[in-house]
Amino acid sequence: MRVVYFGLAVSAAAFVIQGPAHAQAPVSFSKDLVPILKEQCVKCHNARQPQGGFAVSSFALLEKGGKGGKVLAPKPEDSRLIKYLEGTLKPQMPIGTPLSKAQIDKFKAWVSQGSKADVDVNALVIPDSAIPAIKVPVIKVKVPVLPQAASLAWSKDNKILAIGTYKTVILVDPATGKTLRELPGHADVIHNLQFSPDGKQLAAAGGPPALQGEVKIWEVETGKEVRTILGHNDFVYSCSWSPDGKTLATASYDKLVKIWDLATGAEVKTLKDHADAVYAVTFNPAGNLLASGSADRSVKVWDVATGKRIYTLAGHGDIVFSLAWNPAGNQITSVGADKTMRIWNVNAQNGNQAQNTSAHEKSINDVAYSPDGTMMATASDDKSVKIWKPGNGTPIQTIKDLPDAMLSVAFSGDNKLVATGGFDGTVKIYNVADGKLQSTVIDLPKAPEVKPAEVKPAAPAKPGDPKAVPAKPEPKKVDAPKK
Ligand code: HEC
Repeated sequence: MRVVYFGLAVSAAAFVIQGPAHAQAPVSFSKDLVPILKEQCVKCHNARQPQGGFAVSSFALLEKGGKGGKVLAPKPEDSRLIKYLEGTLKPQMPIGTPLSKAQIDKFKAWVSQGSKADVDVNALVIPDSAIPAIKVPVIKVKVPVLPQAASLAWSKDNKILAIGTYKTVILVDPATGKTLRELPGHADVIHNLQFSPDGKQLAAAGGPPALQGEVKIWEVETGKEVRTILGHNDFVYSCSWSPDGKTLATASYDKLVKIWDLATGAEVKTLKDHADAVYAVTFNPAGNLLASGSADRSVKVWDVATGKRIYTLAGHGDIVFSLAWNPAGNQITSVGADKTMRIWNVNAQNGNQAQNTSAHEKSINDVAYSPDGTMMATASDDKSVKIWKPGNGTPIQTIKDLPDAMLSVAFSGDNKLVATGGFDGTVKIYNVADGKLQSTVIDLPKAPEVKPAEVKPAAPAKPGDPKAVPAKPEPKKVDAPKK
């Protein structure tokens, strides 16, 4: 535990000298800055939804910085935090209403005094529960919402559809829609679900953002938790079983891909070459290669035995969110924020682009192959799911009547159905042959009837209210539970 104490005398002095800022007055992180961060910053920079990849919930997170790197430097004039507060870096923070000069001076004085922590650096000085202006009861009455259906996996024997939501995996019987089991206890949104090759276990990936990655391995039959893998410094977005079921590969927002021994839970290898968050990872069917897709716009192919990158597939113009290896093992399909679906011819030495299709009107969040390898399905922020044949730039099926951004898609074991998971939490199953709705597995609850007297007037929106913030600037990173 790294704690730096200023001592009582000093904090008391800081308290007295406050007022029109005196640059040299000792500034306390916890007493002087945390109240400002709590009031002005945390609604956009919290551990759960860090805008710009930056959270102020603990000293450690603040010190870690955001997607532009560290925000603190020895001198205030070199510190990005100060530059954002003064508006020399744009957009000026906090967006909408800049801090007063006295407040900015406090931050400057603190930086010039060495940016010291006077609390446990890892303590959540501003827990997410303290985030202001989220008036849940009012929202709940008006618009009933569910946690997002961020991930889906369909067992090969067709008997189970696994749905990854916020903190809980739900196993349903896709034929009846009946819930078979719930697997609770996850730290946050479950971003990826993968059945083991023998179908007996299920890996569920996620973790508390900006803190740790978490993958839980569940025994499907009993609902017993077999193992929890904790590693990485941030969300795990994707995982993949080796075909022999002995190792699991994970991809994280911390830019790394890791391989774990499932018998011991030990980390076997770290694959380091991506310059930004890694959103997707998957073994090839032979198990000797891994492909990963990243916010650095690249797809990389790795040698599993050595952990070395063999080659990079460049072409995507933005974040690669998802990729899949065809069952034959000679092609990879990748999708992402540039709205394209790309197919690459690949082998153990090199790869090249075989197809580039403008597939959707908005960011594409997921791609999956049908088990027989004859089709791919894509799920997009444009509220549609499309089904494709390799080599054909026109979808064979477009499912358009979906209510919200689509986060996840999975084919049934018999290739006849496709399940879709939405940001609004709904899960629906469609027929591949005609694109028609087969069943709704999870539907939005009906809005309760509200008697006028029960509705409290909502507080007037203040400037800088989260309502003014674009809901999903980074589609996958900020898809916090809509609760
Ligand atoms: C209304 C939402 C909102 C509020 C309030 C807000 N920010 Fe931001 N902040 C953002 C967004 C969005 C970005 C990303 C901007 C971009 O990438 O162009 C950002 C980026 C930043 C960054 C850069 C992170 C990086 O590494 O790129 C810093 C530093 C920052 N904010 C500090 C603050 C501080 C300190 C406060 C409070 C005094 C604050 N912000 C309040 C929305 C907000």
